[in-house]
Amino acid sequence: MSGTPALPLAPGALPLLGHAAAFLRAPLEFLEKLPAYGEVVEIRIAGRRVVVVCDPALTRTMLVHDRVFDKGGPIYQRLREAGGHGVASCPASEHRRQRRLVQPAFHQSRMPGYAQAMTDRMETVIGGWQDGQQVDLTRETRRITADVVISAFFGAGMDEAAHARVAADFTVMMAGFSRRMLMPELLCTLPTPGNLRYRRATERIRQELGRLITRQRRKADGAANLLSLLLEARDPDSSEADAFTDHELVDQAITMFTAGTETTAGAVCWALHLAATHPDVRERLRAEARTVLGGRTATWEDLPALGYTRQVLTEAIRMYPPGWFLTRETATATDLGGHRLPAGTTVAYSPYLIGRLPALYPDPGRFDPGRWQDGGRAPKLPVTAFGGGARSCVGDRFAMVEGVLLLASLVGRRHLELTPDSLALPRLPQLTLNPGRMTATVTTPGQLAAPSGRPHSAS
Ligand code: HEM
Repeated sequence: MSGTPALPLAPGALPLLGHAAAFLRAPLEFLEKLPAYGEVVEIRIAGRRVVVVCDPALTRTMLVHDRVFDKGGPIYQRLREAGGHGVASCPASEHRRQRRLVQPAFHQSRMPGYAQAMTDRMETVIGGWQDGQQVDLTRETRRITADVVISAFFGAGMDEAAHARVAADFTVMMAGFSRRMLMPELLCTLPTPGNLRYRRATERIRQELGRLITRQRRKADGAANLLSLLLEARDPDSSEADAFTDHELVDQAITMFTAGTETTAGAVCWALHLAATHPDVRERLRAEARTVLGGRTATWEDLPALGYTRQVLTEAIRMYPPGWFLTRETATATDLGGHRLPAGTTVAYSPYLIGRLPALYPDPGRFDPGRWQDGGRAPKLPVTAFGGGARSCVGDRFAMVEGVLLLASLVGRRHLELTPDSLALPRLPQLTLNPGRMTATVTTPGQLAAPSGRPHSAS
């Protein structure tokens, strides 16, 4: 490291623990303070040195140079345990090929088909709630997004029983990811009940998905779902033989599930949470959804008329980006912001930290969907909540379609009275930044004695 200035170390590091206690106690507050110490700041988490990039331009540099700042670090190590080398976790050396194979399945032309699966699932869940029922919104939205990814991936190829089994095992797996993300390596290998549950659920998922993929390969019935598109996918720059193998397809299915369920569900929950405490936003959101939908579940055709819903969702994602803290590992020695980083350095970036920079977003703590009016008066960001460079979110379009349809359907079809504990501060963020437990009492708008003016209704 000679010849370049030493990296600033965030204050408050304790012997052995480093910043682990402060980071785990209040991670968002901890991150927000880091830019005051430098553009690139070192933190220490239980013996691990992590370099956090606090400047948007340097974050972009890091994301663009994805062969140097390769996927790695604790988050991707954990993801690889279950999802192998899927497109989100594979090293840069495998990424270009995988991305070329996956990308067409997320083309704009595919969205109306996925939107139909979204509407169907939302109709089943939201339409199934009884008036007066108390629902756990975090769980229900996750159930919807999980079902949507499974439907989008397998289409009619998965029967209801297999669907329920896979969804249940995925829930165990996701909880395991979050728990293990910041666990020291040794603890992850111990045969604790939690680790065993996680491992068994992951094995069952791989087996079930493997069977489904073999069956779908034999059928080749031309049904257009994500899996059939990935089965047909060929790398245009390479040979016929360069299609995905069955093993890789299981990796992709797990990757899509991991990347595409808690993320969108969390964003929608945040939007509901923020709307509940901002009555002007809540009223406008509600008015738009109820006028456009007239009591039905939202469909693809409704999207152009749901502009304000989109603004609310985008602002919620800025303030509470589901992927809030993401890691890389330097493949070779390199410079960043005038500092020398040896090969093998863990580097992290945070869409949360970037979304809270006052230079980019004046008064960043203010929930203001108006920032995104007419496509956004907000600055064109070098780094958004969907990442950047070659590893940016391949599901961003899918996520926005699903998020807008879900948010509009929830507030358009139902009146959701959030219980007071749902309005408390979020619990410790895990793999994704979710608002924790959010419960609400559900009624149908037309049947309310007093539909508006309640202090904490989300819709
Ligand atoms: C609001 C919802 C979502 C947000 C905020 C989000 C955010 C992100 C971010 C920040 C990354 C980059 C990670 C990194 O740099 O380490 C990413 C990658 C990815 N996301 Fe999303 N995501 C969302 C929804 C989805 C959905 C619905 C899917 C799929 C159905 C998806 C699939 C992926 C995949 C496959 C990658 C890896 C891309 C690559 O490395 O080529 N995401 N996402």
